[in-house]
Amino acid sequence: MKLRTVVIPVAGLGTRFLPATKTLPKEMLPVVDKPLIQYAVEEAWAAGMERIVFVTGRGKKILEDHFDHNPELEEALLARGKDTLLAEARSTIPQPAGTLLYTRQNQPLGLGHAVWCARHVAGGEPFAVILPDDLIDTGGGKPVLQQMAEEFDRLQTSIVAVMAVEPWQTSKYGIVAPLNREEIDAHCIQVNGLIEKPLAEAAPSNLAVIGRYILMPEIFQYLERKHQGVGGEVQLTDAIAALLEKQAVYAFRFQGVRYDCGDKVGFQMANISLALQRPQLRDQLLPLLQEQLDRYHHQPSAVEE
Ligand code: UTP
Repeated sequence: MKLRTVVIPVAGLGTRFLPATKTLPKEMLPVVDKPLIQYAVEEAWAAGMERIVFVTGRGKKILEDHFDHNPELEEALLARGKDTLLAEARSTIPQPAGTLLYTRQNQPLGLGHAVWCARHVAGGEPFAVILPDDLIDTGGGKPVLQQMAEEFDRLQTSIVAVMAVEPWQTSKYGIVAPLNREEIDAHCIQVNGLIEKPLAEAAPSNLAVIGRYILMPEIFQYLERKHQGVGGEVQLTDAIAALLEKQAVYAFRFQGVRYDCGDKVGFQMANISLALQRPQLRDQLLPLLQEQLDRYHHQPSAVEE
């Protein structure tokens, strides 16, 4: 089985970024100068995906426009001889045309429900899922979906990306129970169970599922049940937990640094970190960051948020 489809859910409300997300989709927030959704699509292209399915919702039209021509802008850049910028503007247009597909989640009922909305486009074959707010910097190495696709070629079954978290963080993630405790340090671990957002005492490991998945099509049978889990939402984690009673599921420790850009702190960290990787920005940013560090270091409690 070859992997060729990726589903990118973008129908969430992005409430943690209000007021910015009142009209702007969270997935259009830029990290340095590129919107989150573009990082996700570029990762899918790098992994050789032939079809990208956006699960969108109301108010998300500019996401579609971002992956199309902007004739006025392109003409202006052409007339001014701004070739590099012109290439940037055109770099988001899919080749060949017709490989970005759109479906709607009419109500944001949860990630599991969003993925279920892609069943008619993705159904019948294994497919990947990328959550664009999980930005993973691989420092020029293989993008994470490509790392996972290579594992999939070998395993031919569902794979979830995992990373180690601190005990106080387990209640924010789906946490993996390994089948064999001895395998816990391996880079690919067979999963015995998945628990959504457990407290540290109840967590079966410190391995948290993050926003990259490869799923077998049978997942739709479980999503179909629309079981409401934590927060009253249809959780993808719950459907994967049900799936693993029938099929093997693996947890894959990816190579890279993950930023939770759905969260204000993670988003700022991604911006600082990726900006510092660019020499021109680094030269200007470092003195400013140093100044701020000195200021907060000397009077931590005197400075208000
Ligand atoms: P999040 O739970 O992080 O996004 O979903 P959210 O609900 O938009 O954010 P907050 O918590 O209100 O700030 C992760 C991804 O799943 C999509 C989101 O768009 C995001 O890309 N999602 C989430 C959906 O497509 N539909 C949903 O019902 C929920």
